[in-house]
Amino acid sequence: MANSVPPDYRAMARVKPLCEQIGRQRIAAVVHAFYDRLRVHPELEHFFSVIHDWPAHEELIVEYWWVVLGGDAMEEREFAMADKHRALNLAESDFDLWLDCLRETLVEQLEPHLAAQWEKHAKQVIDFIKPSILGR
Ligand code: HEM
Repeated sequence: MANSVPPDYRAMARVKPLCEQIGRQRIAAVVHAFYDRLRVHPELEHFFSVIHDWPAHEELIVEYWWVVLGGDAMEEREFAMADKHRALNLAESDFDLWLDCLRETLVEQLEPHLAAQWEKHAKQVIDFIKPSILGR
């Protein structure tokens, strides 16, 4: 009975990557709201004084999350995660504060299941990059 299932239903059942479930515009809204928090965070804001072109930085981070959340890169750009963060001399506790800010933003901006999945991806990235940034 191969033809008994309408093609639309089959397409709907396929899991969309998280980036598409959220959409580029909402990723941009999350990134913007996230940096609004970081820019006034008492313990983290000083790190961001190295950023002079905020729109360009936010655009870069939107592209970053687009790819991390399963999308195809729209720009040819390597991310210099380890080098740039090593230069900031971050402490372990900074990652916790950063993640708290992201979680608060996600909960505010997205449906709970999307917020939870994005946070899970962020934690995986942190587990991956933290040792090389903290030098352990
Ligand atoms: C622990 C707290 C963190 C602080 C204070 C922080 C701060 C910064 C700052 C100041 C920059 C700009 C550096 C520059 O242009 O010289 C930057 C870049 C960036 N950050 Fe973070 N960051 C943190 C954690 C993270 C985490 C956990 C992620 C990913 C999940 C992340 C993703 C990025 C990306 C993708 C860039 C752009 C790198 C590039 O230019 O290639 N950051 N961060």
